Amino acid sequence: ARAVAVRAEISYVMVKPDGVQRGLVGEIIGRFERKGFKLRALKLYQTPQEVAEEHYKDLSSKPFYKDLVQYILSGPVVSMVWEGDGVVASARKLIGATNPLASEPGTIRGDFAIQVGRNVIHGSDSPDNGDRETAAHALAARRALTTARRRALAC
Ligand code: TYD
Repeated sequence: ARAVAVRAEISYVMVKPDGVQRGLVGEIIGRFERKGFKLRALKLYQTPQEVAEEHYKDLSSKPFYKDLVQYILSGPVVSMVWEGDGVVASARKLIGATNPLASEPGTIRGDFAIQVGRNVIHGSDSPDNGDRETAAHALAARRALTTARRRALAC
């Protein structure tokens, strides 16, 4: 029998600026770890505006789009790539409904958020978007250590 290459499923998961500022990064990573998914990549950085716009381009006609991009730019984010069978749908369950007041207790948004415009975390809604969002953020993530060093040296 010939070996068949099976593509690994990944989800792009991002702790949004409010989640970082509130110190929820460890709690969120712990939930994904305990569930059993594999952490493949992780980085903290300030999102460039064009990356935030690309990330949410499908929502560019929505009335909340401008505020959404501003929110993502309001502080550093923590970007992660999680891998595993079914990770995209499972991550969405761990995260909870978009509106935190409708998210079940036990989900991340259900436990830690109130406002839709401050809902702590993003998770891809399809494997294709997992790939697209990871690609959109990749360059910013690669630059993060260099940027931190330049900032430190400039002080
Ligand atoms: P969406 O992709 O619909 O939700 P999710 O993050 O659960 O996949 O929307 C993206 C983000 O846009 C959402 O996390 C928060 C913001 N948003 C608003 O600010 N107001 C809204 O009415 C909606 C639907 C989303």
